[in-house]
Amino acid sequence: MTQGGQTNPGRRTVLGAAVLGAGGVTLGVPGPASAASSKDGGSYRDLPVPTVVAHRGASGYRPEHTLGSYQLALDMGAHVIEQDLVPTKDGHLVCRHENDITGTTDVAEHPEFASRRTTKSVDGVSLTGWFTEDFTLAELKTLRAKERIPGTRQENTLYDGRWTIPSFEEVLRWAEREGRARGRRIWLHIETKHPTYFRDLGLGLEEPLARLLRTYGRHRKNSPNFLQSFEPSSMRRMAELVAAPRVVLLSGAATRPWDFQVAGDPRTVADLVKPEGLKWIAGFAQGLGPTLDLIIPKDATGKLGTPTTLVRDAHARGLVLHPYTMRNENSFLPADFRRGTDPTAYGDAFGALKVYFEQGIDGIFSDNPDTALLAAADFTRRR
Ligand code: G3P
Ligand code: CA
Repeated sequence: MTQGGQTNPGRRTVLGAAVLGAGGVTLGVPGPASAASSKDGGSYRDLPVPTVVAHRGASGYRPEHTLGSYQLALDMGAHVIEQDLVPTKDGHLVCRHENDITGTTDVAEHPEFASRRTTKSVDGVSLTGWFTEDFTLAELKTLRAKERIPGTRQENTLYDGRWTIPSFEEVLRWAEREGRARGRRIWLHIETKHPTYFRDLGLGLEEPLARLLRTYGRHRKNSPNFLQSFEPSSMRRMAELVAAPRVVLLSGAATRPWDFQVAGDPRTVADLVKPEGLKWIAGFAQGLGPTLDLIIPKDATGKLGTPTTLVRDAHARGLVLHPYTMRNENSFLPADFRRGTDPTAYGDAFGALKVYFEQGIDGIFSDNPDTALLAAADFTRRR
């Protein structure tokens, strides 16, 4: 495996990982800072490649960001499980993709919270709904999670109402339990959502996140988690608080991170993927989480076009790449991998994953970790 132009024979294949377990390590005494996520064990460089990151858990099969979704992803063998973090009014971190919980919980069915429906501007976007920062953790815990896209994933609605919104600390405890039971470390990929917006509200994400990581022994360079954000300043802040590896997320080339917009930094993602931008990111992060379109842009018909040089350029700076997001349904696949006319039906996800893996990416976020794991195993076998 070549990383940053250097051979790294220590990296295990995905097939090896299926036997050994990602980041496999013998566990110590139970307890927050001493068990599965402790200081022992290999670094992110020892993860199987391609690494399969379960996007919001196994969100293709269960309502996202629930313990049920995380559990299924882990049971499927996902190497890393993703959490998106937003704060509560009383400063707890909870796992939601948005602070607007209208679409992923039953909050609208709670008359006691009807008056909390409001309109806000979040990162320059006007949103109307219910927001985590207006609820205490105890209040949020009275809600139930539901499927975000029931029209596409009708089967997942079977699980609506089954799970609550998990606090991040609950997830850390779950990871400890699972780590002890499985005799290995449980890898997490933890994103700070809207960090500038929340800091302006007095609800900075990074300090409570760092405190929790320290409490559970996940703050070290070799701890089994990645930290990630679309706002580079959040990763720079985390770099001052903990040593855990950091990933800068990159949206479309024409976009500008929200913290850049607030700070008057004129750079766009197109600037950040140039050698100078990558050099800057490598000063405080270990990886990139680019949208897949930055690896292979699509043409006007939605088909895959010519790959960019981003993988090569990022590797030259020593950065790993975990692009997002693979999903099995036609509506989310490049046009050349759709099958039939039903947008909710599965297309040729294996074909698309193969093409993306061939670009040399180090991992991938997928809503369907079982599919991505099989594709990774196929890819590893063929090499
Ligand atoms: O964090 C990687 C990927 O999850 C980024 O997209 O919007 O699903 O958080 P999003
Ligand atoms: Ca995310």
